[in-house]
Amino acid sequence: MAVRYELIKVCKQSGARLGRLHTPHGTFETPMFMPVGTQATVKTMSPEELKEIGSGVILANTYHLYLRPGHEVVREAGGLHRFMNWNRGILTDSGGFQVFSLSTLRKITEEGVSFRSHISGEPLFLSPEKSIEVQNALGADIIMAFDECPPFPAEREYVRASLERTTRWAERCLRAHRRPEDQALFGIVQGGMYRDLREQSAAQLVAMDFPGYAVGGLSVGEPKELMYEILSHTTPLLPAGKPRYLMGVGSPDALIEGVIRGIDMFDCVLPTRIARNGTTMTSQGRLVVRNARYARDFSPLDPECDCYTCRHYTRAYIRHLIKADETFGLRLTTYHNLYFLTRLMERVREAIREDRLLDFRDQFFAKYYGGDQ
Ligand code: GUN
Ligand code: ZN
Repeated sequence: MAVRYELIKVCKQSGARLGRLHTPHGTFETPMFMPVGTQATVKTMSPEELKEIGSGVILANTYHLYLRPGHEVVREAGGLHRFMNWNRGILTDSGGFQVFSLSTLRKITEEGVSFRSHISGEPLFLSPEKSIEVQNALGADIIMAFDECPPFPAEREYVRASLERTTRWAERCLRAHRRPEDQALFGIVQGGMYRDLREQSAAQLVAMDFPGYAVGGLSVGEPKELMYEILSHTTPLLPAGKPRYLMGVGSPDALIEGVIRGIDMFDCVLPTRIARNGTTMTSQGRLVVRNARYARDFSPLDPECDCYTCRHYTRAYIRHLIKADETFGLRLTTYHNLYFLTRLMERVREAIREDRLLDFRDQFFAKYYGGDQ
């Protein structure tokens, strides 16, 4: 078994889980946030910086690496870890999501998805077998089943047919997987905003005995309250002894609410993407450092932060760099945002250990969102 989840304790106040994820590239405490490195790099960050920040597992995308440089190149390099000089954990998403968000002229059939590359326009095809072949070549510690993530809103009949196909695709992924001893294949629960369809999807995937489970199809534009309701309904259907991963979630409130509902792993482009357009996450909430009001502000991004950026640079300087299109500015904000979320997850784990995660949530929200989220 490539990945083993060790449940350490459950928070008496919230039901949240504290655990450890043992992988071929190290053991990482959960709940954790995984930075996104779509093209085998977390944009603007070196692996040394990510280690300094304290990242354990990072995410890469099958879709992008299949298009460029191609999985054969990565295989020849000795796999993704050696290719990108990252010796901690890597998770690859299956391409099932990116095909829908990025490519053009998509056509879904039982066999798979045909589409045109968003880079070259050439016609391509991804199926469960192809996605697993590519992910086996990339060699991440955790790989994902090839799924379809329906949009929001979507008709019940569409979502039902889609999740049933996603289940059949998950079976084909299991059969196609050639490296179960060093790559853990996670199943992805779908079912949109329909509770009974979530039950159907979870039951079918749990019967297939994956080493871990993701909750997909959330954070696709639905109201947050609806996402929390579906999540509350879904995580109890998953086995307690295996890791649970909520895909595409990374705002501080959704991270904490997800943990309270039993989630162990998260990924999102949010902290790195907003950093590159000059928005930062601080203990007092979001701060748009690009804003003119910081032109003469010689204080750090976050007075409570002790990251490299906040120890050495001012809001005025970072604003100047970003306004002047200097790439160092993007590195400084990215570093800080990842540091902020990594420390947030550390504090969440500490609160679980001490059975006070609901108190922590209320205190954190009061400061970050001014009480109203
Ligand atoms: N990333 C965010 N949501 C999803 C999803 O539903 N499926 C996959 N494969 N990736 C995602
Ligand atoms: Zn900082």
